[in-house]
Amino acid sequence: MVFETTAFPDDGHRQARIRICMAVLRQVSPHRFSIAARAIAITRVLAGKPDNSSEIYNEIIALHHLLAALGIRNHCDEMRHDSRFGTPHAATPLPRHSLEIMADKALTHPPFSSEVIVAARDLMAVPTSEGCPDISALANEIATNQDFDFIDKSWPSSSMASKIFAILSSPPDTRTIDHGDDPDAAVILLWYILRLKSPHTAVHCQRVTRLAMALSAEGGLTTGQRDTLARAALLHDVGKITLPEALLSKAGNLTFEEREELRTHADTGRSIVKCIPGLCEEAEIVGRHHEKCDGSGYPQGLGCKDIDLLTRIVTVADVYDALSHARPYRAALPDASVFNILNTEMADQLDSSIVAALREIVVSDHAAPSASD
Ligand SMILES: [Fe+2]
Repeated sequence: MVFETTAFPDDGHRQARIRICMAVLRQVSPHRFSIAARAIAITRVLAGKPDNSSEIYNEIIALHHLLAALGIRNHCDEMRHDSRFGTPHAATPLPRHSLEIMADKALTHPPFSSEVIVAARDLMAVPTSEGCPDISALANEIATNQDFDFIDKSWPSSSMASKIFAILSSPPDTRTIDHGDDPDAAVILLWYILRLKSPHTAVHCQRVTRLAMALSAEGGLTTGQRDTLARAALLHDVGKITLPEALLSKAGNLTFEEREELRTHADTGRSIVKCIPGLCEEAEIVGRHHEKCDGSGYPQGLGCKDIDLLTRIVTVADVYDALSHARPYRAALPDASVFNILNTEMADQLDSSIVAALREIVVSDHAAPSASD
């Protein structure tokens, strides 16, 4: 399988986009997840039954909160609410600058239409925190506000207000979010979301996927195993979505605390991928990609016999790519130095047969004439 990450079908994947945005949002900011889940439930009540216009609005809500959470993660959980409908004294404006930066990044990413992104950037969401001073007034406001004109308001407003009040008063729906009918679309969308947060991490994941696919061609894997490997490799660092930008791009050495925080990305990635039904094996590979054969890895310190072949392939491809490309804290190493490290310092940590196969691939790649030759 080769993931085509330069194009994404716009129609027919709206439900998948909403669900995946919400799945990631739940990991990044439970508070924002709660707000968005209630806002989506309100839209469905306003619409009477899900239709295209209400689902467009729900995509806007989901994307708005995701962009805000990715851009301003350190502050978003402190924000009690952002308000369009609340009274002026209750309104807490979003830090627009961060949100606009994230929205501008999103505009270069095809999974979301430009109308949805622009609307998501401009949306000031419904305040739904428990701190809202007058929740009944808010429910009435939503039920009668002109901004909802495009939604069919066939409900009597008193009945609608009571339904909205019930949604605002109840905990958000946190059932497993499915991917619709196309798990690969969910995988690609997750990769796009990672690219919004950290472009260099997303590109690293693409390169690791290509290396893993080249290794799988040598290893005699089945088609199903190759598909699993491709999905896991593309998402192996998706847990970094939840880490602060400053940590991901730090040029100097990490402190002990920073290293510990960085290490959380393996478990977080496992949790995010697990949200997509049918991708349990991929989720486990994502969660184990920093385990090492000598037990020195994380998060569990597993030994080689507990690390499956597909994970060992991703790990070797990951380490090779990390060392052979520049990072904020060091320059890229030439292949000779990289393989020297893999075969000496890291010899007990990596599967030596996979390292040998990778070396063959790299050597033959360099020997092959390029298109410009
Ligand atoms: Fe990683």
